[in-house]
Amino acid sequence: MNSTALIHHRYAPPVGFNAPQVSTYKASTVIFESVSAMRERNWQSKDGYTYGLHGTPTTFTLEAKLATLEGGEHCLLTPSGLASIACVNLALLCSGDEVLIPSNCYGPNLAMAQNELSRYGITHQLYDAMNPEDLSVKLSSRTKLVWLEAAGSVTMEFPDLIALIRVCQEYGVTTALDNTWGAGLAFNAFDLNVDITIHALTKYPSGSANLLMGSVVTKDDALFHQIRRCHMHFGWGVGANDVEAVLVGLHTIVLRYAAQDQAARGLACYLQKQDAIAQVLHPALDGAIGHVAWKKICGNKAAGIFSVVFKPQFTQAQIDCFCESLKLFKLGYSWAGPMSLVVPYKLETMRAEWPAGVARGCLVRFCIGLEDVTDLQQDLAQSLQTLGVNVL
Ligand SMILES: Cc1ncc(COP(=O)(O)O)c(C=O)c1O
Repeated sequence: MNSTALIHHRYAPPVGFNAPQVSTYKASTVIFESVSAMRERNWQSKDGYTYGLHGTPTTFTLEAKLATLEGGEHCLLTPSGLASIACVNLALLCSGDEVLIPSNCYGPNLAMAQNELSRYGITHQLYDAMNPEDLSVKLSSRTKLVWLEAAGSVTMEFPDLIALIRVCQEYGVTTALDNTWGAGLAFNAFDLNVDITIHALTKYPSGSANLLMGSVVTKDDALFHQIRRCHMHFGWGVGANDVEAVLVGLHTIVLRYAAQDQAARGLACYLQKQDAIAQVLHPALDGAIGHVAWKKICGNKAAGIFSVVFKPQFTQAQIDCFCESLKLFKLGYSWAGPMSLVVPYKLETMRAEWPAGVARGCLVRFCIGLEDVTDLQQDLAQSLQTLGVNVL
């Protein structure tokens, strides 16, 4: 037996294998039947295979499912949620253009504009997502892209997406929504006329905090091809095992999203009653910033993530100690995984101005996992006691 017989083995498995989970195809090389087939194959078309980077049955399946999840038509996979933001920026923006970003955006979106897009002569401005008029006055003939995010990062304000998108449409400017919070489940972004969504699949679609991946979804064919060309030229590939894991995650995303939402709301209400807390930031709570827009757009759905602001009498050291005293909530970034997480943020270092409507004090963000909610509440109670306050 020589190596050739092993590499070019004549056995071919019977066709027709079928199972609930699509098989995990792994390839850089794709084999062609003939030179003409090789020459005719167009990497931009999804009716065949050209090279691993351009797609396999596994990546095409995930892309199709994600397009359905988000209410779009086309989907591209990228190595992370942040890479999806980069992909949209680089596909749509040229030197001399401007991008507008909400002031409560996911921080690295802004950092990309400040540190990277600026090197290509692309400028940016922040706008107040809670004030469509502010967006309107910042739009100019140089604005080629407006980022949207709902709810806002860390402070959880829910913007009136309908009004913001209407302003952009009046100016003919492309909109891209970071749809990670809504996950395609809280609302349908394309029904609101958004042009592009990006989604950190790292969060709910994975659901296990075990991988990084992102997607870009569009409905418009021309926009999709523009983004796809850029995606291909930069060589953004994803690993087949990670694609497989996201496909597994999608089977349960609806159940997990609802369960984490319910648990988070229960804990948010519990914290709202505590003496130590000045404000709970969760768009589903009555009186929350953007609550009316949230209700109109999301009905009654929300992600399992919220923040609290402690009363100003507590020092940062005390709040850091509160976070460290939690036993089930682990200190860690990201969200939508099985384990509950906590992060003490220094809001004053993240925003140019303290956000309107947010109480002054130390801010802590909670991401609710899949633990028993009674255990999580007990954990919060025992840690609040370390602050020397009355705990209900
Ligand atoms: C709203 C939002 N968008 C994008 C990202 C980026 O995702 P990734 O960690 O996959 O780059 C994150 C990550 O925390 C996020 O919270």
